Amino acid sequence: MDRIRIVGGQRLNGTIPISGAKNATLPLMIASLLTDQTLILDNVPRLADVGLLQRILGNHGVDVMTAGKRPGDDPNSGRTLHISAKHIVDTTAPYELVSKMRASFWVIAPLVARMGEAKVSMPGGCAIGTRPVDLLIMVLERLGTQIEIESGYVIARAKKGLRGGEIVFPKVTVGGTHTALMAASLASGTSVIENAAREPEITDVADCLNKMGAKISGAGTSRIVIEGVPKLNGARHSVLPDRIETGTYAMAVAMTGGDVLLQNARPELLQAALDVIAKTGATVSTTNEGIRITRNGGGIAPVEVTTAPFPGFPTDLQAQLMALMSRAKGTSRITETIFENRFMHVQELARLGARIHLDGETATIEGVEKLKGAPVMATDLRASVSLVIAALAAEGETMVNRVYHLDRGFERLEEKLSACGASIERLSA
Ligand code: UD1
Repeated sequence: MDRIRIVGGQRLNGTIPISGAKNATLPLMIASLLTDQTLILDNVPRLADVGLLQRILGNHGVDVMTAGKRPGDDPNSGRTLHISAKHIVDTTAPYELVSKMRASFWVIAPLVARMGEAKVSMPGGCAIGTRPVDLLIMVLERLGTQIEIESGYVIARAKKGLRGGEIVFPKVTVGGTHTALMAASLASGTSVIENAAREPEITDVADCLNKMGAKISGAGTSRIVIEGVPKLNGARHSVLPDRIETGTYAMAVAMTGGDVLLQNARPELLQAALDVIAKTGATVSTTNEGIRITRNGGGIAPVEVTTAPFPGFPTDLQAQLMALMSRAKGTSRITETIFENRFMHVQELARLGARIHLDGETATIEGVEKLKGAPVMATDLRASVSLVIAALAAEGETMVNRVYHLDRGFERLEEKLSACGASIERLSA
C-alpha cells in the first residue's frame, strides 16, 4: 500500500490549481442514469472515487468514455466524461461495490425513477460514525415507492412510476436532498422539499438537471420545488470547483506560512471557512484567478468553531482546522455537530505532538510550540489530509500510511504541494 513521506518546515509559495468538486461529480455522474441520452461532464477530477463510481455505473450498463488529450490542453484542467445510460441492463447495485463508497447508494433514486425498480446494498464508505439512510428511504416512500429491506439490500419498487409529494426533512441531509431532486425530476406532478440542504453541490446538480430538461426552482435555498417531467435529455455541464480542497490548501498555507494562489477557487463556496482562516491570522484575498492566502510571520490565533450545514463551517474541513489549531497560540475549541465520532484524526494528530482533549462532540485544543514528525495512519478521507497539513508544519519526517483514503478525494496532492515547495513524496509499495 502506498505511503506518503513528508519532511516538514517548508513554507508554501506558488499556485495550486483547484480541481472539480468530488461531492458534485459523484451525484452528477449518478444523474446520468435518468436519461437514455449522453451526459457530458467537464472539469471532472481524477480521483479513485470517480473510478469506482464508473465501475458501479458500468454494472448497470452505463458507458463512460473519457475524452483524450487535445492540443493546447492545460494539464491541470479536469477530464471530460461522456456518460451514456442508453440501456440499463441491471437495476441491482451489489454489496461488493456499494460498500466501498457511501454515495453510490444514491443510484437508487434514478434507477427507481426511470426503471420502476432498484435493489441497492446498504452503503459503506468512510468510517465516520453511524451514517444511516433512513431519510433517503423516506424520500422514496413519499414519492410513491414501496420499500423492502432484505439481507442488507434496500429493494425499491414503483411499477407505475413515481408521483410528486411533499418532503419535509427533519434534519438537513445532502444525500437526502440529492435523492429527492433526482427522483422528483421524473415523478408525475409537483414535489416540494422543505429544509433542503443548501450546499453548492446541490445547486450544481440542480443546474445540470435543469439543463437536462428538469424543472427545479429554489436550489440553494431550503425550499426547493420540482415539477416532474416524463423524460430527461442529455446535456453538457462543467463541475464546480472543490470548496473542500480549496479550504484544505488554504489551511495548509495558514499553518506553514507563505503565499499561495488557489487557482479557480470561488470564495462564495466557502465564505464561513475563509472567515475562520482570516481570524487565525492569515490574509485572504480574492483575485480574478481565484483566492490568495498569505501568512507571514506572526503566530496562529486560536478560534472557536462549530460545524454546521452550508452556509456554516463544513464538517469536511473540521479535521484540517484541528491540525491548524494544534499550533495556535492559545486554546481553541471545535464542536462537530454533523457526524458523531468524526474525531479519528485526534489520536493521530496527538502522535505528532498535538494536545487535544475530547469531551462529547467538542474538542479542546491547546496549541503547542512545535509538532514533531512521526509515523501516522490515515483513517478517513478528511482525517488523512489533516495529517498531511500537520506534517507540513512538523519538524522532521512524517510517514502517512494507508493513503488510499487521500486518493479518494484529493487529486495529485503530492504534486500540487511539492510545486509550492513542500517536501512530500509518494512511496509506492
Ligand atoms: C455529504 C458529503 C460529505 C459531507 C456530508 C455533510 C458527498 C458525497 N458527501 O455526505 O462529504 O461530510 O454531506 O456535509 O456529498 N442522516 C440521517 N439519515 C439519512 C441521511 C443522513 O440521519 O438518511 C444524517 C447523517 O448521519 C448526518 C447528517 O444526516 O448526521 C448529514 O448527513 P448527509 O448530509 O446526508 O451526508 P452525506 O450526504 O452522506
